[in-house]
Amino acid sequence: MEAIKELLDASKQQFLDELFELLRIPSVSADPKYKGDVARAAEYVKKKLKDAGADNVEVFPTAGHPIVYGEKIIDEKLPTIVVYGHYDVQPADPINLWTSPPFEPVIKDGKIYARGSCDDKGQVYMHIKAFDLMMKTNTLPCNVKFMIEGEEEVGSAHLGDFVKANKEKLKGSVILISDTSMIANDIPSIDVGLRGLSYVEVEVTGPNKDLHSGVYGGAVANPINILCKMIADMKDENNHITIPGFYDDVLTVSDADRAEMAKAPFSLDAYKKDLAINDVIGETGYSTQERTSIRPTLDVNGIWGGYIGEGSKTVLPSKASAKISMRLVPNQSSEKTTAMFKKYFESVAPACVTVKVMAHHGGEPVLTPTDSIAFKASSMAMEKTFGKKPIPTRGGGSIPIVALFEKELGLKSVLMGFGLDSDSIHSPDEHYGIFNYMKGIETIPYFFKYFTELSK
Ligand code: BES
Ligand code: MN
Ligand code: MN
Repeated sequence: MEAIKELLDASKQQFLDELFELLRIPSVSADPKYKGDVARAAEYVKKKLKDAGADNVEVFPTAGHPIVYGEKIIDEKLPTIVVYGHYDVQPADPINLWTSPPFEPVIKDGKIYARGSCDDKGQVYMHIKAFDLMMKTNTLPCNVKFMIEGEEEVGSAHLGDFVKANKEKLKGSVILISDTSMIANDIPSIDVGLRGLSYVEVEVTGPNKDLHSGVYGGAVANPINILCKMIADMKDENNHITIPGFYDDVLTVSDADRAEMAKAPFSLDAYKKDLAINDVIGETGYSTQERTSIRPTLDVNGIWGGYIGEGSKTVLPSKASAKISMRLVPNQSSEKTTAMFKKYFESVAPACVTVKVMAHHGGEPVLTPTDSIAFKASSMAMEKTFGKKPIPTRGGGSIPIVALFEKELGLKSVLMGFGLDSDSIHSPDEHYGIFNYMKGIETIPYFFKYFTELSK
């Protein structure tokens, strides 16, 4: 382990340079315009896995973006750690809000600024370099398989097929993922749960064409007004979601568990200050941390209709639309929730409009075990490098593939993430601390070591 640390310190600049090269590739999975760049990023990951000493490294095409696979099998009798991550990134929009260009990484105040620096290229690259170091120092203690995909940010539509078709290839002992955050650099934590997602698009149609808002206004339904009211009605005065049955399957967290979670350090003042808000809002009876982890949500992600050009145009629009997401918690089901939403939304639409509900991708919520050797190994690894035992936390985001791995491969995941909530993932000026990058590379080999030892 000393040899790894020494080599890591000596390689710092090179490891940053290599990550920068990956960050310069705009691998935006959502936008077809970047298809070639996404493919380029896959090739780069492939090359770096090969250079580090992985075998059978391949870029697997899918109907969408490719999946990179590589492995190092040193002994069939030893455990196999399957590392999952994604090399695709969210769009950089709104681009004018970035202080420096999103695909021209720069270091400011010890942080790497670029789209994907934290989510998830920076965290994926930690694994490649940790593997590289274990290979160079002859200390890889077990087998490892890498599966790095290019469609996580658009719902991993084709990864499920890949997993189903390659069960033998992906056989392993545990899935290791660095794609989440910790409480703070001096308060390490490990997510032991993620929320699921149900995502719909709705369209409300009033008259068969846009109308003069003076000639018809007041007598004919305005679909934007109706849509806004329908959305507002989906929460009551306690910010409780009103869709019938919505909470039926929600796993109630015990008071004891809530009390335990509440011990995690959190400053509401700092939270508000960071976001420049005067107050928070959410479901009555739950704390801010609970609202973003153990409780489901309903949020409008985008809404459009009518005239939004320069100046004013008096128009009573024919259509209005919105994209709505619901974050789900154990044991809610994405499919069931989407169906519930559709039924409700259609049933409450007034006769003066027609509505359409279209389902987008979803994902299931998960809880990862805390009594497993994998969790123990990650806890020991972080304690070793941070000097503090990590706190188990529940993450608010979603990584749909985690539930799928469990279902298809029977494998549990460990969410050993090194980001911070304040890293602005999906936002302008996304960044990742050099401290976090280096700490991650240092910690991963300890996970390998402890997991192998505990598996004996
Ligand atoms: N890495 C995030 C998920 C995440 C972030 C989990 C922080 C916990 C803490 C991931 O890349 C992501 O953004 N997922 C999407 C999923 C969706 C596109 C299906 C999300 O959560 O919105
Ligand atoms: Mn991610
Ligand atoms: Mn993301």
